[in-house]
Amino acid sequence: MSDVRTPATKAPARLVILISGRGSNMLAIAEACRNGKLSASIALVVSNRPDAAGLESARALGLPTAVVDHSAFATREAFDTALAREVEAARPDWVLLAGFMRILGPTFLDHWPGRILNIHPSLLPKYRGLDTHARAIAAGDREAGASVHIVTAELDAGEVVGQFKVAIEPGDTPASLAARVLAGEHQLYTETLQRLVEADGSGNRANIR
Ligand code: GRF
Repeated sequence: MSDVRTPATKAPARLVILISGRGSNMLAIAEACRNGKLSASIALVVSNRPDAAGLESARALGLPTAVVDHSAFATREAFDTALAREVEAARPDWVLLAGFMRILGPTFLDHWPGRILNIHPSLLPKYRGLDTHARAIAAGDREAGASVHIVTAELDAGEVVGQFKVAIEPGDTPASLAARVLAGEHQLYTETLQRLVEADGSGNRANIR
């Protein structure tokens, strides 16, 4: 009798994506899940703004969405608690910030240590915070780019796990540079995540819950 064993199937890693606006990184990740470049599936897209354009795009793709409106909460902790409850219910292996414009405190972060990522449009540790492209141009930098980093309580300060660079061209404006960087962000976020998913087998963990 032959001993045929089926290899354990590896379930895709479960992603929860937090957005506040346009959601183009979220859409790039959704496309990578669909075309097989990323061994993951999006369990939930959450916005802190009910009018975020990315929510509509996510719904159009049939992705589950939720809104946790920060303006409805009296304190940061109350918002963090409500957001954590919503995210927890979706049982994520990874929580991805993609243009999410709220600072998260330990009340949220401590649920998924080392498993919350953000994409930031600068070559961290340079230019934490806002207006990164204008600041890079004003400083006379010759290159810009984006970084994927682990989210910690300090803004844009966690370990960088992926980065790409583009040249700053003469005549670049913050808008022209942002457009070039954004195209690279989409690739960087999906490739970095695929590397992390492969490295820790997070798909398997989703399987046994
Ligand atoms: C991106 O540039 C990202 O790096 C920054 O916010 C922007 C979000 O864009 N954190 P989108 O909402 O993903 O289109």
